[in-house]
Amino acid sequence: MKTLLIVFHTGGVKTAQMAEAVERGARGEESVRVVMKRCAEAGPEDVLAADGLILGTPENFGYMSGMMKDFLERIFYACEGKVEGRPWALFVGAGQDGSGAVSSVERIVTGLRLKKICEPIVVVKELRPEQLAACEELGAAMAAGLAAGIV
Ligand SMILES: Cc1cc2nc3c(=O)[nH]c(=O)nc-3n(C[C@H](O)[C@H](O)[C@H](O)COP(=O)(O)O)c2cc1C
Repeated sequence: MKTLLIVFHTGGVKTAQMAEAVERGARGEESVRVVMKRCAEAGPEDVLAADGLILGTPENFGYMSGMMKDFLERIFYACEGKVEGRPWALFVGAGQDGSGAVSSVERIVTGLRLKKICEPIVVVKELRPEQLAACEELGAAMAAGLAAGIV
C-alpha cells in the first residue's frame, strides 16, 4: 500500500483548513494510506516511509513559517539521496503575497530531488470555496496518482 504524507503548519486557521481539504481529497482514494502531521510532530522517518509528500505553510515575513523550516532542517540530511523522484506538492496560506513561502520551500526541496507534480496552491486573503475545492483536488490527484503508480 502506498503512503501519502501531508505535513503542514498553521499559526491560525487558514492553512489548517487547506490541509483538511487536501486530506479529505486524499482519503477518497481508499487504497492509499494517508498520514497528516503538523510540522512539529513529523520527522525524517515519516518522510522516508512516504511515497508522496504534500507540504503546507503560511507565509511569514516573506518566507515559509519557522516551523516548516525547522521540519525541513530536521529531515534534510536524513532524507537526502533517499527520496529522489518521489512526487511532492505545496500549498500556502498568505496574507497578500505568498511567493516568498513558495520560493523558500521549493529551493530546499529541490535539494531532495523530489518531483513537483503541480504548481503550488497559494491562497491570499480570504479562503474561497473554489480554493478549498482546489486543495481537495490536489489531495485526490496525488492519491490517485500514487494508487495508479503514475506519479
Ligand atoms: C508573523 C507574521 C508574518 C507574516 N508575514 C507575511 C508575509 O510576509 N506575506 C504575506 O503574504 N502574509 C504574511 N502574513 C500573513 C499570513 O501569511 C496569513 O495571515 C496566513 O493566512 C496565515 O495562515 P494561518 O492562518 O494558517 O496561520 C504574516 C502573518 C504573521 C502572523
